[in-house]
Amino acid sequence: MATLASDLSLPEIPVIMDQSRTDRHQFLRDVADQSWLAKTEIGYSVLTYESVMGILRDKRWQSAIGFIAQLQGITNETFMSRRRESILSAEGEVHVRLRRLVAPAFSPRSADRLRPFMREVVNGLIDDVAQTGRAEVVRDICEPYPIPIICELLGAPKEDWKLFSRLATDVLRIFGSDLATELPTIMAAQEELDEYTRGLIAERRSVPLDDLLTDLISAEEAGDKLSTEELVMMVEAVIVGGTDTTRNQLGLALALFAEHPDQWELLRNDPSLAPRAVEEVMRYNGAVGGTIRFASEDIEYNGVLFPKGTFMSTSMATGNFDPAVFPEPNTFNILRPPVGQPHLSLGAGIHYCLGASLARAELQEAFTVLSERMPQLRLDGPVEYKSTGVGIFGPASLPIAFNTK
Ligand code: HEM
Repeated sequence: MATLASDLSLPEIPVIMDQSRTDRHQFLRDVADQSWLAKTEIGYSVLTYESVMGILRDKRWQSAIGFIAQLQGITNETFMSRRRESILSAEGEVHVRLRRLVAPAFSPRSADRLRPFMREVVNGLIDDVAQTGRAEVVRDICEPYPIPIICELLGAPKEDWKLFSRLATDVLRIFGSDLATELPTIMAAQEELDEYTRGLIAERRSVPLDDLLTDLISAEEAGDKLSTEELVMMVEAVIVGGTDTTRNQLGLALALFAEHPDQWELLRNDPSLAPRAVEEVMRYNGAVGGTIRFASEDIEYNGVLFPKGTFMSTSMATGNFDPAVFPEPNTFNILRPPVGQPHLSLGAGIHYCLGASLARAELQEAFTVLSERMPQLRLDGPVEYKSTGVGIFGPASLPIAFNTK
């Protein structure tokens, strides 16, 4: 007989905490040592590897990303009514159909064709600071890195990089902590981006190119195709999913390597370790520390009954440190033997990161170029992290020094 979740005596964790990221993670890991489940202000949070996987792979727990605005008390009717269904929040048949149509365009092969361009972009960014042996890497490398790649992926021309960067920044304010104030800026950017994307789609329809947009336009299965509205949605999903995640993950990686110079040296001496280094960085410090689901019906899990409508956070940050899956989890080791079970930082189940191959390629290429060109990487001041809470995490500033060759 299952116990009603609200009848359990559970540790409590705040959704937003004042502590630095490192403190927050330690706090959560201490809680995870006592209990697989904790209470939050809006529902519950699962903390162990098995329970995070259990929730993410159970289709009755549905994406709550579409509720973010409501959870922040937004009632603006225009904003709510013009929100279209995104692949990030779609469920059931709608989601299955979208994934089936778009998945081939996000294959490892598609990501691989951008690798030379990724190296060119990283080399260009490091060229600007290489002489000095110093960089504020968040500003100089991490922030600018993903935009040209996403533009190249979509086929947006170089002269539009700046425009794209501004629109992406404004659209991404949706994950900020003050949505009410940011709403007008977000809505204006969404509108401008929609218009821009429609123009790009019209161009590709008349002149197809070798890019993601062309692949998405021609994606067809059993006579079914994406509509213009769905294409516009996919472009926004790529920007929302693929920009801030990648830049923060790279920042977290460089902070980790600056704190573990032996690991940077290993990578520098053997660039073939880049894929393993990416997996270990994402396990140890993933840019997405958790996601959120809601119960679409009464759900019994692990002897506990969660009533329909319950919000559930899934803590990847603690699941990735579960000693039952990752021996000696506190050791950052890029030589860690593969355990056969993936880290959770790219999600799991039906919403598993669509851009996983692209994200991995971007990080692998950046690691290879940067470890070669920034020997003896070290901190050149304190790392400041963005405020911790829901959403995407990473350093706000990361001053580093390295040897000039
Ligand atoms: C290091 C970089 C990245 C990280 C840490 C990351 C993480 C994640 C996570 C955790 C999810 C699952 C969210 C959930 O279950 O609620 C997700 C989904 C998604 N990601 Fe990524 N991501 C990254 C890069 C990218 C890139 C480069 C793209 C685009 C090209 C992308 C596009 C998406 C999309 C479209 C989804 C939604 C998939 C669906 O709902 O079916 N991501 N990502």
